[in-house]
Amino acid sequence: MALNLHGRNFLTLKDFTTQEIEFLLNLSSDLKAKKRVRTWNPLLKGRNIALIFEKASTRTRCAFTVASIDEGGHPEYLSKNDIHLGAKEDTKDTARVLGRMFDGIQFRGFKHSTVEELAKYAGVPVWNGLTDEYHPTQILADMLTIREHFGELKGKKLVYVGDARNNMGNSLMIGCAKLGLHYVGSAHPSLLPTDERVAECRKIAEASASGGTIEMEADPKKAVKDADVIYTDVWYSMGEEDKAAERKALLSPYQVNMDLFKATGKRDTIFMHCLPAYKGNEVTEDVFEHPNSRVFDEAENRMHTIKAVMVATIGDI
Ligand code: CP
Ligand code: NVA
Repeated sequence: MALNLHGRNFLTLKDFTTQEIEFLLNLSSDLKAKKRVRTWNPLLKGRNIALIFEKASTRTRCAFTVASIDEGGHPEYLSKNDIHLGAKEDTKDTARVLGRMFDGIQFRGFKHSTVEELAKYAGVPVWNGLTDEYHPTQILADMLTIREHFGELKGKKLVYVGDARNNMGNSLMIGCAKLGLHYVGSAHPSLLPTDERVAECRKIAEASASGGTIEMEADPKKAVKDADVIYTDVWYSMGEEDKAAERKALLSPYQVNMDLFKATGKRDTIFMHCLPAYKGNEVTEDVFEHPNSRVFDEAENRMHTIKAVMVATIGDI
């Protein structure tokens, strides 16, 4: 069923119902199939798309760029070094200026409050391409990848091992709660999400009646037992480079190596990572390159899912 998401911001999956997220995943699959056979009518014709980046990016930048051009739109890359955002000009003024010229705005940066402020004042849809707190477009790509692999999402056990209180940990918890997966976070206790955040995600699972569950387990071997998906991310995120040594000390027992990968007790567990990966830290080369690693499917799916978000919110559907 087609749902109307026209004009909506995409800041966190908390703002979307289970049905709306499923609609975006179905639209992604549809757009992906059309791209494969190169038979699509451009759905973003005449749309101008601003891509603001305070932080570096390979996948997100390229996904927004290729998706816009595939659908006949015009993407404009605006690095923080090239525009006045937050330096010579208030965020709300930049938002109002860009909103007069562009049809949609992607923001990747530090504070989540910046993307919220852009969304409040731009008057056009704003999409979160990663903040310190959330990375919602990544979750769409991850869920599409899991669904493509297993044929379903509900009831799958996803174990996130590593810095479980970063933007990926936060966002995966929300995604699992909305879509009915069993989420287990495993990290040194100082790097687990706050009790408030866990309680919030449990409420989301309950309210969406998805059957999803949220658990924390400090022992990584216990955590991964029966996992369908083992997921990890870097031990220190962009902006936390000064924490490298401290995190390595805290998270070394949480490295996803062959020993931990086999501890699921299942032969068909898949490995996932949003990338970029720091091999030798959170994951070893042999797990990263394992036949069950789905990391490049995830990377490709960034493009199809981001395309779906733009088409649904500003496109001709
Ligand atoms: N996964 C992800 O967001 O990658 P980039 O930092 O390369 O955009
Ligand atoms: N947690 C990582 C994700 C990168 C896609 C970071 O914020 O750097």
